[in-house]
Amino acid sequence: MQPLQRLSVALLLVAFGGAWLVCHAEEPSALPADSAIALKDVFKDHFQIGVAVNRAITTGRAFRRSPEEVQKDVALVKQQFNQIVPENDMKWQLIHPRPGAAGFEFGPADAFVEFGLSNRLSLAGHTLVWHSQTPDWVFQAGAAANGPRASREELLERMREHIHAVVGRYKGKIKVWDVVNEALADGGPDILRKSPWAEIIGPDYVAKAFEFAHEADPDAILRYNDYGLENPEKRRKLMALVKSLKEQKAPVMAIGSQAHCNVSITFDAMDQALTDLKTLDLPIYITELDVASSIGGQRGGSAAPGGAAAADKRLAEAYAGLFRAFVKHHAAIEAVTFWGVNDAVSWRAQGRPLLFDGNDQPKPAFDAVIQTAAGK
Ligand code: G3I
Repeated sequence: MQPLQRLSVALLLVAFGGAWLVCHAEEPSALPADSAIALKDVFKDHFQIGVAVNRAITTGRAFRRSPEEVQKDVALVKQQFNQIVPENDMKWQLIHPRPGAAGFEFGPADAFVEFGLSNRLSLAGHTLVWHSQTPDWVFQAGAAANGPRASREELLERMREHIHAVVGRYKGKIKVWDVVNEALADGGPDILRKSPWAEIIGPDYVAKAFEFAHEADPDAILRYNDYGLENPEKRRKLMALVKSLKEQKAPVMAIGSQAHCNVSITFDAMDQALTDLKTLDLPIYITELDVASSIGGQRGGSAAPGGAAAADKRLAEAYAGLFRAFVKHHAAIEAVTFWGVNDAVSWRAQGRPLLFDGNDQPKPAFDAVIQTAAGK
């Protein structure tokens, strides 16, 4: 499989005192595997390039894709990326489905860690505390179904037990954790969304989660992760939350901006977002990047007008704008992580939001991203 065979751009990076020479090549008939252009290499002086991986990739066991397709997906992960994050297998619902210390299912998460370590990939953990994909028993008194809600003390202890068990198990292996995911409210005056975490424990649940994670692995980088930070109002709430966390002496060490975008995103919007986020003086991670080719809707409904070629062109322009902003702010960005290896396995597959199609072939957006690396 040569995912880059139809590359229309061959990027020759020749270091003359840090100067880059970029040249366009004729359409190559086929690139030998060892000369394939890799995102991780092209951006190695700027930031890591990561990808969310599913259980089929980490276990090699086909699920919704054929064994041949899964093997191609695995090959693409190894060729293009130097960091991975589990799309689902470390979420509470999947890693701790039943109450108590005996209620963990570490198999798939262990497979993720083994896949990463054996391929010398940097590992990110996702996610410890989230209002979604968390079993109902977590919020129940005595973990009893349909009973009264747990008390603040009981839920704090349950959160602590979960975080210590999961972070402690992968101590020294997982370098960065999404400690709390999507705590901010969308719209309205409230900073925090109404969630069982906030309603039962109170607003300090965010700080407590970071405290417990730091206890479990003092060397791990602890990240707050959220979406929609391209929106100035949501960004204002993030700034307020981080200010509060710092006042509570919570060990928040990095910001994760998910960057689930659509083709209306621009260089200016991301440039402004990153400029504002940098005022927090915390490393920035782009954690869940994808760009729906359709104009609206999270999961990317029908393709934009003009058919696939026009959608590919719009996608390439949107990704080029995003990566020009990432390269401009590269000193503040630790990693740019795509939320899926290709369009077929994406949570928003209908929107064809990634750089590789369902056959792991690079799309015009891949070429457009590669070309931004030479910028400063
Ligand atoms: O594991 C079950 C499987 O046993 C069952 O047969 C199948 C039936 O459809 O469902 C499987 O669970 C699915 C799970 O992904 C694992 O594949 C859930 O239905 C499905 O809802 C879940 O979707 C995930 C979604 O988070 C859940 O909210 C997506 O894959 C994942 O990409 C998405 O990722 C989130 C980030 O964690 C946080 N930021 C937003 C992002 C997009 O929503």
